[in-house]
Formats: sequence, C-alpha cells, structure tokens
Amino acid sequence: MEDVARFFSGKPKAVLVIDFGGQYAHLIARRIRELEALSVLVSGYMGLDHVVREASKYDVHGIVLSGGPGSVWEESHDDIAKWAVGQGIPVLGICYGHQLLGKVLGGKVSRAPRGEFGPTLVKVLDEDEILKGHGKEFTAWMSHNDAVIEPPPGAKVLAVSDGSPVAAMKVGYAVYGVQWHPEVVHTQHGLRLLRNWLELTGLPGSWRPGELIEELVNYVKREVGNGIAVAAVSGGVDSTVAAVIAKKALGGRLIPIFIDHGLHPEGEVERALEVLYKSGLEPVVVDASEEFLESLKGVSDPEEKRRIIGRVYAEVLVREARRRGAKYLVQGTIYPDVIESGARPGSDVIKTHHNVGGLPRDIGLRIVEPLKWFYKDEVRKIARALGLPEELEIKQPVPGPGLAVRIEGEVTREKLRIVSKADAIVRSIIEGRGLHESLWQYFAILTRSKATGVKGDRRAYGYVVVVRVVESRDAMTARPAKLPWDVLEEIAVRITSEIPEVVRVVYDITPKPPATIEWE
Ligand code: XMP
Repeated sequence: MEDVARFFSGKPKAVLVIDFGGQYAHLIARRIRELEALSVLVSGYMGLDHVVREASKYDVHGIVLSGGPGSVWEESHDDIAKWAVGQGIPVLGICYGHQLLGKVLGGKVSRAPRGEFGPTLVKVLDEDEILKGHGKEFTAWMSHNDAVIEPPPGAKVLAVSDGSPVAAMKVGYAVYGVQWHPEVVHTQHGLRLLRNWLELTGLPGSWRPGELIEELVNYVKREVGNGIAVAAVSGGVDSTVAAVIAKKALGGRLIPIFIDHGLHPEGEVERALEVLYKSGLEPVVVDASEEFLESLKGVSDPEEKRRIIGRVYAEVLVREARRRGAKYLVQGTIYPDVIESGARPGSDVIKTHHNVGGLPRDIGLRIVEPLKWFYKDEVRKIARALGLPEELEIKQPVPGPGLAVRIEGEVTREKLRIVSKADAIVRSIIEGRGLHESLWQYFAILTRSKATGVKGDRRAYGYVVVVRVVESRDAMTARPAKLPWDVLEEIAVRITSEIPEVVRVVYDITPKPPATIEWE
C-alpha cells in the first residue's frame, strides 16, 4: 500500500510477515497483532525488490518467513531469506520459512525421514528464549514432507521430533526457525512462542487500535480536506465504524447512505437502521429495490448476479454522491480485503465477493479507507472504544448480495418472498431455542427443483427448500451442525405449512470443503 506514511504520518514500527502462500500467513499476522505489535503482510512471490520496497516504508523490528505450499527446491526465495538474515533484527522462519533458513545458511534440507501431518510430539533440547514455558515436550501442529536434516554450521538445535531432526533451531543473533505452526490453535504454547520471539523485537504493547481513534479522525481530515464525503453503510461493524470516524472528522460534510437493494433477509433493514441511529448516524435511505430486481431479470448465473449487484450498487452510490456534491467515498475496507495475498499467481477465484467493502476502485470518487490497516477483531476494539452499541455485532454474516445468492437461478419477486419467509422461520426457531451461539450461519435456500407432495388431500407440486446450518471459525472451512432432530422437524413442518408454495424441506449435510457455505 502506497500511503503508509500518509496514514501513520511517518514510518510505523512493525514486524514484516513475508507470505509464501501458506494458508496461515494472515493468521500469523493476526496473532502478532493480538500481542499488540503491528504486523504487515508482504508477498514473497513478488520477489526481493518488492519486499525491500515494502520494508522501506516501515521501521522494521522483526521478520517472519511464513509457511508455504512449495518446496525449497522448487521455489527460489533464497534471496529473500538471505536479505532477512542480513538485517540484524530478529527473524522467525515457520515451516517452509524454517527450511528456507536451513538451506540458505548452509544446513541440509531434504525429504523428511517421514512426513509429519497434524499433532506431533516435539521434544525440547534447549529452551533458549523462544521455547521458554514449553516444558520438556509438547504437541505441535505440523504439515511437511521436507525437513531440515542437518543444522547450518554454528546453529543450535533447540527441539526435535520423530520426523524432524531439527524441529527448531537458533542461528547467530536471534534468527530462529521452527518446523511447526505456532500460529494455529492446535499447537500447545503456540502463542507463547510467538510472544517469546516478539519480546526480542521490543514491540509488544506498541500497537493498540482502540487508542488510535484520534489518528484515524485526523487521517480522514487530511484526506478529505474541505470536501464532502459519502459513506456507504450497511449496518455491519466495518462500515459503521468507518462512518462514525468520518463523521467525527467531517461533521455534516459526511453523508451516510444506506442502499436498500431489496435483497435483505426479513427484518435486516430495520435492524441496520436502528443500529446506525444508535451509533449517531442518520443515513439517507435509498430504496433501489426496483432497480436491482429489474437488472437481475433473466439472469441465473451466480457470478453474473454478483457482478450485477456490485455494479448497480456502485451506480446508485455514485448517483447519490453526485447529487450531493460529494467527491469522496468513505469505505469500511479492512486489512484482509486490501492486502496483496501470497496466493500463487493464477490461483482460482472461487466466488467474486461483492459487498459494500468491495466496490470497484474506479467509480469516480476518491476512496478513503480509515480501517484498511485493521483486522476484524481490531475494528471491534475500535467500535468498543467509540462506545458503539453491542447490537452492531450481527448474529450471523449475511452475504453482500443477500438473498440473491440464496435463490438458485433467476431472482423473482415471488422467489424472494418465499426464501425470505423460509429464512425467517429457520432463524426464529434457531434463535428462539438459543442454538445460534455455537453456529456460524443458519439460513434457507430456495432451489430451482420442484417436487411432488400432498397438501390437504390434494397433490401439490411445489418448491424444494434447503436448510443450511453450519459451524465454522472463519468461513474457510465449515461443517454441518448436528441439530437436534426435533428442531429439524419443527423447521420442516413450519416451512411447509406456512408457505403454500413449498412441499419439501431438506437439510444440507455437506461440509466445506467440498461444498461452499452458500449455494451459489
Ligand atoms: P462460501 O459460500 O464461499 O462463503 O463458503 C464464505 C462466507 O462468505 C459469505 N459470502 C459472501 N459474502 N458477498 C459477501 O459479502 C458474497 O458474494 C458472498 N458469498 C458468500 C458467506 O455467507 C460465508 O459467510
């Protein structure tokens, strides 16, 4: 991101997390943030020049070389590892990063005696700084085929496991490598290891998002000057916090806009408006439901529906902004939305996620994103520091395109009415029984299938509704909830009796992967 200096008025103290495409790079960065140090992700795939350029924007106190799917023999990131070691600051290599350090520092890396996947017993030989508090042995989460077989000259082996003769090592001044993943919850003492290492950087306690409100307000003031800004608000945490900060900065020159696309689950518009009012925002409400439905006519491809909804959303917003003389758009974009991902070039986009934070960047308004340095948990901390209402935490995430991706195929008024009613029944039963606390999402989908049934002694031919209820931590993986049978029965009975057009209700028992959470 180009504007580090503009945002922070200088170079902030940070740990660089170099992302080699592992699934866990964001997790490492988040854990470091939990320990109150700023961490920033930099893609290793973009090469050493890119890493050096990014590093020059920060006052770098530590470098993490993350895990990655590659093998040190297939991929050449040696230059990045050598550069990191040459900085004379604490370095931590994790999994692939550990092997990379082993290789460039002169150790031997090859296929492990046996690959280690999942919980693995690690024996501590020398606790040094980073293994303090780990005891003599502990269980760590591993996932590797290659291993550091011989340590680099002068390195100290700190820990071993059956498949890793060098499961952890220290080389020279504060350069450490660990074969396991301290960032995942299944690793015992994982956070402790990261804290131990982070202590060496001197950064813990230097990053407290809740105390940055004044800086954020000043940032918006600097960006917008005397201009007028609109803020697209949805009633979610991110867009509300961004708008509240902008309002502090701009007062009446901030115009919050709530666009009703007509695809919200039942009651959602009312909830959103109430929470926005309680947060001190009085949004202009634009009912654009006709426009959205009209544009969706005849469209049944899910990605096409998402694109149309994103486009119409942007059009409505720009029109409203122009009408009010606004040249700026305040968005609640957060760090994971903007940061370059370490994903390998050419990796698949599974779904195009159009939400309020995902508007096209070239819509003719200057975009101001006061939250783009923060993870969700940090935005919540800012919300708390701002004294925003608790109801801001919605019970479950709703996709930006709303019910449009919960109707298989074309969206029509009739189908919207049916899915919305079915959805409201699912929610009321689950929330009524207090089951939602342990669930990630619970909703209904209207399929394009029709089936035969019997209603009131007559043959009925009607819709099939799917009920999807999942448990998840982060939506990356999910599993179907084992709902009590009587709850499922109640859902089926109520949906079929209260919605005449539906004759069958089925429960989706597929985990993610292979299925996604939404049906489209
Ligand atoms: P999937 O269906 O990909 O969903 O397993 C993962 C999470 O993302 C939500 N989701 C969306 N959110 N715009 C959004 O803002 C979208 O187009 C979209 N599609 C899926 C989904 O509800 C789940 O929480």
